[in-house]
Amino acid sequence: MSLGKYLVYATILSTFVLIVWGAYLTAGNWGGDCGTSTGGSLVSSDWPYCNGSLSIPNPAVNYGALVEYIHRTLSVITSVFLLVTTVVVWRIKPRPTEAAKALLLSLALLIVQVALGDVVVNSDLNAAVTALHLANATALFALMVVAGTYMHIRERPEKR
Ligand code: HEM
Repeated sequence: MSLGKYLVYATILSTFVLIVWGAYLTAGNWGGDCGTSTGGSLVSSDWPYCNGSLSIPNPAVNYGALVEYIHRTLSVITSVFLLVTTVVVWRIKPRPTEAAKALLLSLALLIVQVALGDVVVNSDLNAAVTALHLANATALFALMVVAGTYMHIRERPEKR
């Protein structure tokens, strides 16, 4: 298996874990736990900080903040994976054009996704924005699976 294909699979897995962790964050109603709130309303997301700090929140003090912090950390890990994967696949000769294009489009969606994450926390977890955040994550995941499928087909051993 080539490095490019291995990296595409790892990026798909990392995105999957991130999406499931996002669902956990939403289900637990912890989406605002990295911010300052007054009277139940979120007034500051502290983004990219979590309650004014970049250090790991203590779960005994605020479990929700840790869940949100992990979501953000996983999004950084996934972003690095996708960036490296896209560069590696683009440099394969001859270039696997379809997979490379799908990865480039995924990168564009990832930038939108991170920006939407910022809007989610700064809009006091507005339901419509959160739904958009989910919709874009689903499209992002689908595109990566497309890239993975193209890499799989390309590197499949020839049948005689
Ligand atoms: C590649 C990046 C990301 C992906 C794939 C992703 C995906 C998701 C998913 C699938 C959910 C669950 C949505 C739902 O169940 O309705 C979620 C929730 C959430 N995400 Fe992200 N996310 C990403 C980056 C970020 C970033 C950078 C932030 C940062 C500030 C963020 C903030 C949130 C918050 C606050 C929620 C909870 C929303 C709520 O409780 O209503 N996400 N994310």
